[in-house]
Amino acid sequence: MTAAAVTAFPDGAAQGRALAQALGLPFSETGLHRFPDGESLVRVAGAGETTILYRSLDRPNDKLVELMLAADALRAGGCRRLILVAPYLCYMRQDTEFNPGEAVSQRVVAGFLDRLFDAVVTVDPHLHRTAALDAVFPAARAIALTATGLLADRLRARHVPGAALLIGPDAESRQWVEAVAAPLGLGVLVGEKTRRGDRDIAIGIPDISRVEGRPVFLVDDMVSTGATLAEAARILRAAGATRVEVLTTHMLAGPDDLKALMAAGIDAVESTDAVPHDTNRIALTPLLADAVGGLLAG
Ligand code: R5P
Repeated sequence: MTAAAVTAFPDGAAQGRALAQALGLPFSETGLHRFPDGESLVRVAGAGETTILYRSLDRPNDKLVELMLAADALRAGGCRRLILVAPYLCYMRQDTEFNPGEAVSQRVVAGFLDRLFDAVVTVDPHLHRTAALDAVFPAARAIALTATGLLADRLRARHVPGAALLIGPDAESRQWVEAVAAPLGLGVLVGEKTRRGDRDIAIGIPDISRVEGRPVFLVDDMVSTGATLAEAARILRAAGATRVEVLTTHMLAGPDDLKALMAAGIDAVESTDAVPHDTNRIALTPLLADAVGGLLAG
């Protein structure tokens, strides 16, 4: 049996194969069939004693069940150490009971993954009231990477002018926008957001007059419906920004939401390949390979 191997479901086969190549490990694609009634048939091939299972957890409900099936089949095939690489980790935002009776999804889903995997590697998880990823993974080794270094590299490679401002749309985004701006010496503004519904957002940006006549980049960990960044773009344009671009780790918006973003005055969107999307411009492979390589060596 192979000592270590990488596998990925079809939706992440390109990224899984790239990860295997960077680590110098064999790769196999996990087979997936959806029956007409919605059930899934999962077929694993080439388990290693240590198996790295790559699957990003956007659109997570089916994927979580399929992970459970794959983990069981890999263990039955002799895998003794199972590492999940999920660049996007789902259900992290519901970290408390906002209204009576609501399930605390972060705790439930992280607990489920904690029982299936020996280690979980992810990128820019949305931890708001939770101090660190370890807090929701009591048993598994939990590694939270950040893509901010790669986002900064991208801006550096594009020779973004020193006059550009980086904008975080809300208080939570401060950590990401400051980390991207710092190595480039760019200025930062951080907004204040009120969410009234899934797509009903109000944003105020202190000192917004500084954007007049300047290009700006909106930086956030994720774009879900795009409503946050669309609203931010509208007020930035109204304040005189010459160009508005978006840089994000997790791009979850569907085609209609992406169109609405562009209609709100956004010129370009660039994302990492954490979630496969037409806007992917930044590969996470080097970051993930480094972390998984450390786990394999440790
Ligand atoms: C929340 O604070 C996150 O950082 C994002 O700003 C949010 O999830 C984006 O959601 P949407 O694109 O639906 O506005």
